[in-house]
Amino acid sequence: MNIIVTESYEASAAYVANMISELINRKPDCKLGLATGGTPVPIYKNLIEMNRAGKVDFSRVRTVNLDEYCGLTGDHDQSYRYFMDTNLFNHVNIDKANTFVASGIGDPAANAAQLDAKAAEGGYADLQLLGIGNNGHIAFNEAGDKLIAESHIEQLTESTIKANARFFEKESDVPTTAITMGMRSILAASCVVLVATGAAKTEAIRQLICDGAVTTHNPSTFLKLHQNSYVVIDRTLAEAAGYKG
Ligand code: GLP
Repeated sequence: MNIIVTESYEASAAYVANMISELINRKPDCKLGLATGGTPVPIYKNLIEMNRAGKVDFSRVRTVNLDEYCGLTGDHDQSYRYFMDTNLFNHVNIDKANTFVASGIGDPAANAAQLDAKAAEGGYADLQLLGIGNNGHIAFNEAGDKLIAESHIEQLTESTIKANARFFEKESDVPTTAITMGMRSILAASCVVLVATGAAKTEAIRQLICDGAVTTHNPSTFLKLHQNSYVVIDRTLAEAAGYKG
């Protein structure tokens, strides 16, 4: 695991946007695994600026997203399809036919099978971007006694529902289940890049970077088993987590 400590969250966002744009320039038809949440937003803003400045071309890029809330249609303003369209896809020259966000509507088993098939189609992601939940969850693979390899429907924990309530009018509007890519497809990516910032992530990041344990109680710790994984955090978070370098 490579641990990158930057001076600020803006610097982390620029660092990761550069990793992504360098990949696209090296491999114009690359496959990106994309994430939602507040953390990736500045990364996507950087990529939009680079695309406008002619520094990166998305015309042949393919993307697959990690997850989607169950019960929200793609045009719901809190769905992850809507998030991706409004925070990235609508502002760059990507062909939306080359983007995939799982459906949270319809037959759950069929949707999960489709997500696994899309993750594998033409090879797994060249780069998988990840945020991290306060409890260490990645995508919607929740912390608990077991993790599931395949894509599946996950019951969201109290902690995740509370953390994500800030995007909804009220907590009771947050869906309690989501479809998520499973651990296998996430870890099958050639390169996995986890980005984090903020005090709420301190304990999850401490377990990830200052402790040797791999545990289902912090799904992010499975990145320790990946040959080409990066954790990008700002100095404030690194110090809070007790990282000594
Ligand atoms: C959600 C997403 C995760 C994301 C997490 C943290 O639960 N499913 O992919 O990493 O939120 O989000 P934020 O970046 O807003 O803290």
